[in-house]
Amino acid sequence: MCGIVGYIGYREAWPIVLKGLKRLEYRGYDSAGIALINESGEHIYKKAGKVAVLEEFASGQDKSGTIGMGHTRWATHGVPSDRNSHPHTSNNGKLSIIHNGIIENYATLKEELINRGHEFKSDTDTEVLIHLVEEIQKIEHLDLLEAVRLALKEVIGAYAIVIMDKEHPDRLIAARKGSPMVIGVGQGEYFVASDATPIIEYTKNVVYLNDNEIALIARNDLLIKRLDNVVQTPLIQELQLKLEMLEKGGFDHFMLKEIYEQPRSIKDCMRGRIYPEEGKVQLGGIKEFAEKLKNIDRIIIVACGTSWHAGLVGEYLIEEYARIPVEVEYASEFRYRNPIITEKDVVIAISQSGETADTMAAIEMAKERGATIFGICNVAGASIPRLTHAGVYTHAGPEIGVASTKAFTAQVTVLTLMAFYMAQQKGTITTSKLIELLTELDNIPEKIQVALESNDLIKEVAEKIKDSTNCLFLGRGSGFPVALEGALKLKEISYIHAEGYPAAEMKHGPIALIDEEMPVVFIATQNSSYEKVISNIQEVKARKGKVIAIVTQGDTEVKKMADYCIEIPDANEAFLPLIATIPLQLLSYHIAVMRGCNVDQPRNLAKSVTVE
Ligand code: AGP
Repeated sequence: MCGIVGYIGYREAWPIVLKGLKRLEYRGYDSAGIALINESGEHIYKKAGKVAVLEEFASGQDKSGTIGMGHTRWATHGVPSDRNSHPHTSNNGKLSIIHNGIIENYATLKEELINRGHEFKSDTDTEVLIHLVEEIQKIEHLDLLEAVRLALKEVIGAYAIVIMDKEHPDRLIAARKGSPMVIGVGQGEYFVASDATPIIEYTKNVVYLNDNEIALIARNDLLIKRLDNVVQTPLIQELQLKLEMLEKGGFDHFMLKEIYEQPRSIKDCMRGRIYPEEGKVQLGGIKEFAEKLKNIDRIIIVACGTSWHAGLVGEYLIEEYARIPVEVEYASEFRYRNPIITEKDVVIAISQSGETADTMAAIEMAKERGATIFGICNVAGASIPRLTHAGVYTHAGPEIGVASTKAFTAQVTVLTLMAFYMAQQKGTITTSKLIELLTELDNIPEKIQVALESNDLIKEVAEKIKDSTNCLFLGRGSGFPVALEGALKLKEISYIHAEGYPAAEMKHGPIALIDEEMPVVFIATQNSSYEKVISNIQEVKARKGKVIAIVTQGDTEVKKMADYCIEIPDANEAFLPLIATIPLQLLSYHIAVMRGCNVDQPRNLAKSVTVE
């Protein structure tokens, strides 16, 4: 995700755009840039780093002008750097663009434009788009609005863009598809941004641009068209939310917002990587190692915390489909043992932040001993992606809540794709099986959306167990890492002691803990271990334990014995972790809120553990 802001009117644009970018930094903060147009032409200031770095960089420069736009970046294509920062300009330097989204077919478009003599300054997909607009305008002799409209009809992917023409400083062109955009309507001035936070202090009147719409924004006029050229009547609405609420998208906490973002973040994670009709997975980030993957001895996954739980899910999936032995190691333990590592090993380092010290140290050690290192990270250009030989970004967007939610499901999604990709390379899976699995995986975001709809019931269950001092989470198979993750979520934000266990292990000790005060959360969905889990539930009930069960929609068996059942849609066992985790995230969230805990910044914790 990135943040975009535009302004045209009678005020100085710089302060409005700069403050707007600071309000949007929660959407991305690895680089920032602002373009302004005034009598002396267009001035573009852009810099890697946070918005404050840009502000420092531009101090003392010409920042006058009543039209401008700015961008704070969350890198997708092209590492964070000055040259990859937005705004980007056309070949002739006349046009400039800022963009939030992903142009999936940018490589094909770029190749065509290079063949037509275009030269590119960055590695971004965004720069390709503004060169495409320029090319169409030149060939077809069109005005900018029409050239942008035709260019967008050639684009596959998601975008929210603002474009300026330095020879026409009386207009902004804006358009969106799949990424958010709101237009603020003032008196003799207009604002455009990714959400209303940069706008609300100037006007409460907004127009939410819809997908496949394009807008011509002048100082006193607003024209909106659909990409099929049909003019739309702007629907002006009045903002009701306060600023603080807006930064959280109307949610009470970033964590809740990020829980609800998961249908989208998983879609973004899969975008351009799965082709269900062909039964194909494409992972550009590791394709140069495709041959090597055909005959490696072992995969070692190193990570910490939630990322380590994702690694456990990866172990089940990679061994099941690619038939490659997998070991999952706590990075902090792995780095101090004297492990046996050879050049026939692949080490996969999983890290949301890309800055976890123990994980970085584990990578260094494995690298020294000849292993090939892949990364799975959520922050482009972070330390870990720069340490690894190759990797796959999760594209979940910034995760602000300290308790990891959407990053976990995005990591599991990448590991699922890796398992299928490796199986595809090794020939351990048929195309028809891949077609079946990828078709279902493509619909998982919709199933997660259904799981989110149990929120009210989950809140009721939270009310019943919020005063517990201990809690057990039990699961079998890939339900076991889900149990671990559910326990970690609960303990780190509500401060209730919670443990995750393989359900069968309960009889080897933890069952001594069971009494009427002990809530036990079971992952009891209908899969290969269903019958065994039912036996474990009965063992808990026989000792008066309080059972909360995550069950498959329509389950009647578990309902007869559990105290509370939370239903999730049925799905192939391979995708169970992606869906079963959702109610556990919500359960922990509501308990923490009811206990008055600081959900987004729990005590003693940090978002990234950069110390050993
Ligand atoms: C998870 O909710 C925690 N915030 C923590 O366990 C986290 O997963 C761990 O510190 C690893 O962080 P990383 O993914 O950024 O490396």
